[in-house]
This record gives sequence, C-alpha cells and structure tokens, in this order.
Amino acid sequence: MSNEFVIRSLDEVRFWSRIMKEHSLFLKLGFRCEDTHLIHEADQFYHIFEQIEGRSHAFTELTDPEQIRRFNSEVHAAVSHIWVFKRKVLGLIIQCKLPGGNNFPLLVDHVSREANYFRNRLEELNTGRLEPLPDAIIDENVFFLRIMADHAKFIGHLLDPSERKLVEQARNFSQDFDQLLFQAIDLSGMRPQSQTEPLLDQFLDQNRVSVVSLRDFKKTARDLIEACRIKSIIHPLLADHVFREAERFLFIIDMFERCLTRNQVRE
Ligand SMILES: [Fe+2]
Ligand SMILES: [Fe+2]
Repeated sequence: MSNEFVIRSLDEVRFWSRIMKEHSLFLKLGFRCEDTHLIHEADQFYHIFEQIEGRSHAFTELTDPEQIRRFNSEVHAAVSHIWVFKRKVLGLIIQCKLPGGNNFPLLVDHVSREANYFRNRLEELNTGRLEPLPDAIIDENVFFLRIMADHAKFIGHLLDPSERKLVEQARNFSQDFDQLLFQAIDLSGMRPQSQTEPLLDQFLDQNRVSVVSLRDFKKTARDLIEACRIKSIIHPLLADHVFREAERFLFIIDMFERCLTRNQVRE
C-alpha cells in the first residue's frame, strides 16, 4: 500500500511540477516588458518547480513513504503559492491594470484551475482520502473536459486568422468539448442515480473518442509548429504542453475503464 502511495505520488508530482514550471514561463512571456516585478516572480516560480521536478526524479519507488509524504507537503505549499500568484495576475488583467499584455484571462484562470487540481491531488494522497470510483469518474471528467474545451479555444485564438482551416477545426473541437462538458455536468447533477456501471462505461467511451481525436489534432499542430509550417503565435512548448495534458486525460480514462472492468469481474 505504501509502495503504491510512493508510485502514485511520484507520478503526479513529476507530471504536474513540469506543467507548473511551464505555466511560469508562459505567464512570463505574456507580460509586458515593463512588468519586471511580475516577470521576476514568474522566474522564481520557474526555478522552484524546476527544482521540485528534479528532486521528484531523484526519488524511486523504494524511497521511504514518510519522506515522500514530507516532499508532497512541501510541493503542496509551492503549488498554493503559485495558485495565489495566478489569481493575483487574473485580478490585475480583469481590472485592466496590465493593458497590452498577452495573457488571456481565461488562460490565467485555466492555469490556476490546474494548480488547484494538483493541490487537491496532493492532499488526497497525503491524507489517504480518495474519492469512491463513481464520484472520481464524474469529477475527473468534468475537470478535464473543461480543460480540453479551453485548450481548443486557446489554439483557435493563437493560430493566425489566415490559417482558416485549422481555426475552424479548433472551433469545432471547442464546440464538441463544450457539449461533452455539459453532458458530464448533467450526469453529475443526476448523482447518485446516474452512477450505474453501463452509464459510466458509456460516458468514458464517448469522452475517450473525442479526446483521442483532439489529442491527434494537438499532435499534428505541435509538429507543424515545430517545423514552422503554419502561422501562429503559439510557443512550441505550449503546443507540446497541451498535447501532454490530453495524453494525461487519456491515461486517466484508461485507468477508470480498467477499474470498472475489474469491478464487473468481482461482482
Ligand atoms: Fe497547463
Ligand atoms: Fe491546460
């Protein structure tokens, strides 16, 4: 059990600390050059999460669980701080105090939601309080479907408007995921009656199909951006970043599907 705790913790911290590190870079790139204090703060977070990422790779599954528990608490504190920073930046943008900056409010809100998710994950791990499977399936999907819908919107806005075909594809993904998100919220509202195995299984299957095609679209976009074959203001690392988050969602869906099947076998 404690070995499982170490493996789960390292997996979450390795994935999300890299994500937090990259958010610091993206925010920094979106600030105006005169916002030196914000740029400096973003740089500090970059280094903090770079260090955390490095340390997470130095641990192994044989590391003492108590040491990992302390490490998780340390990471939790850093994530809380970056969350506060992101919400502060969101407030500044919304109050028009950073005119001409390049961070969309929805993007800043989005990265703060990801920080909040990471923080909750660390709390769940350290307290050992994991949600029951039917609740986790709905909640994780509501979270990630919204993240995917946001990504489609960001891609659509950061591509050059002259890339009409790709912009249209991004817009279609945005609509598709908005619809899936509303379906997920409907299913959530019908809890606990909606938490039957056939409904949850179908829910995962349907989401999986759309996530696979969005993941493939992101992969294509990433490759085109890297090869400088399309016009956009998307940083190549951002293209890779949103691709990795789609892969993460797929990994979680697969895990849920395996758990559901295992439950069936047991019944
Ligand atoms: Fe992200
Ligand atoms: Fe994201």
